[in-house]
Amino acid sequence: METLLLKVDESDEGQAALDIAAQIIKDGGLVAFPTETVYGLGCDAMNSRSARKIYRAKGRPSDNPLIVHIAELYQLNEAAEEIPECVNALAENFWPGPLTIILKKSKSIPRHTTGGLSTVAVRMPADDVARELIIRSECLIAAPSANVSGRPSPTEAMHVYNDLEGRIDAIIDAGTSAVGLESTILDLTSDVPVILRPGVITREMLEQVIGRVDIDTSILKVDDKVKPKAPGMKYRHYAPNANLIIVEGDPSKVATYINSQVREGKESGSTVGIIASDENIKRYKADVIKSIGSAEDEREIAHNLYGILREFDETDVDKIYAESFNNEGIGLAIMNRLLKAAGHQVVNADKEAITRIIFAGKNGSSRSPMAAAILDNMELDKNYEILSRGILVQFPEPLNPKIEAVLSSNGIEMEDYHAVELKDEDINSTTIIFTMEESHRNRIIDKLSRANEDNTFVLSSYVGNELEIPDPYGGSLQLYGLCYESIKKTLEDLVNILDQKR
Ligand code: TXA
Ligand code: MG
Repeated sequence: METLLLKVDESDEGQAALDIAAQIIKDGGLVAFPTETVYGLGCDAMNSRSARKIYRAKGRPSDNPLIVHIAELYQLNEAAEEIPECVNALAENFWPGPLTIILKKSKSIPRHTTGGLSTVAVRMPADDVARELIIRSECLIAAPSANVSGRPSPTEAMHVYNDLEGRIDAIIDAGTSAVGLESTILDLTSDVPVILRPGVITREMLEQVIGRVDIDTSILKVDDKVKPKAPGMKYRHYAPNANLIIVEGDPSKVATYINSQVREGKESGSTVGIIASDENIKRYKADVIKSIGSAEDEREIAHNLYGILREFDETDVDKIYAESFNNEGIGLAIMNRLLKAAGHQVVNADKEAITRIIFAGKNGSSRSPMAAAILDNMELDKNYEILSRGILVQFPEPLNPKIEAVLSSNGIEMEDYHAVELKDEDINSTTIIFTMEESHRNRIIDKLSRANEDNTFVLSSYVGNELEIPDPYGGSLQLYGLCYESIKKTLEDLVNILDQKR
């Protein structure tokens, strides 16, 4: 089948193209059309053969019902019956617009349109082209999003073309969808209205108009025992080709974690992409970094999300890491889609952040093993692997005798210690390296490819001290004793920081 691309605008040609699209719908064909949320794949809602064609074109499971789109309020009576009072207030406040309501279906809507259910989803889109298409085709238009089942919903005509070219009669091109995420679905068939799918019309907005509204518990969680009431919400969805992983936590920890994953990916020959907010974008180093907009502007993020997921399909990335967003208000809709696209793979960077702590000094026989030994003897909330290394170790020097003596007088014995040189293999994504001196830090970062500004720090400045820990080399035992105290004090501050970060 050849798929017509119909450019619709105000021009005579554009308007004639819209007439062609309307005629295709009347004749039982399938037309992808813009709405303010996402592009829909439409057909005559009363024609069950056409509805079946939609399932085939999308590869959509047949139990997943379509949304019936109307242009005028009176058309609601053709789609639904036993319409509750609150619909008037909802329509007045939110229609035309990105709200879909679930009602008891009318007899005239065929079961193929509603996936076998006795209820029907209805929405009045705000997009002028969508409404005009409904009016000119003189029927209600049943439409799911115009993507191949499982893919991100299309927010521009080319997205539809890439998914469905050759499988549908026509695609109307009228620019980018303003909202970018699918409508909020509100089920009005239960005692208390329930949001089955979150969108830019939020719970708070609905509650202001109709009072209490519940949220389907499956929206942010994966729970095999809870069956989502909107059949479509149970499928993996919106997924880009690459494996998508969400990373939540403190922004700097998120960046450290993601950057380390990028480096590890590179070493194993895979390419990693990043989805970041404007605020954090400078924190990342990767081949493909895409900004999704300001974390403060949820509408912008909603608008950009699907387009960005699709853009990644044009790159060769194998893995995508995305920042996590606040799930209040519109954020709930964003996180719902992002979690589904990621198959609910979420990493908490605060917890993942550090599991191996390496103290590194010039030759690894003095202050660094002392720090490692002290930390090893302290109470920590979490199990860390604590190591000591030297930057240049030509032979496995034993522990400096004065260090050994000071540790011993504080009840810490280090038997058979020998210095070991710091190597790239020691460093993985969960490693943090501490040096006593700035110059040591710089040398490590220069020398080792896995060491960098995000994982290698001067111990004193990491905990916020201006003064470095003094080098007792060549000094008296008393000086070594002072060094012990200074390291111990600094490590106590470090433990507080590490415990807070968990
Ligand atoms: O913004 C939108 O809603 C877009 C545009 C094109 O209008 N449409 C859209 O359709 O997102 P679709 O098919 O991708 O999603 C429809 C969702 C599915 O999750 C489906 O299970 C649910 O609506 N749904 C439809 N009828 C339902 C019903 N009777 N009861 C419960 N859920 C229903
Ligand atoms: Mg869809």
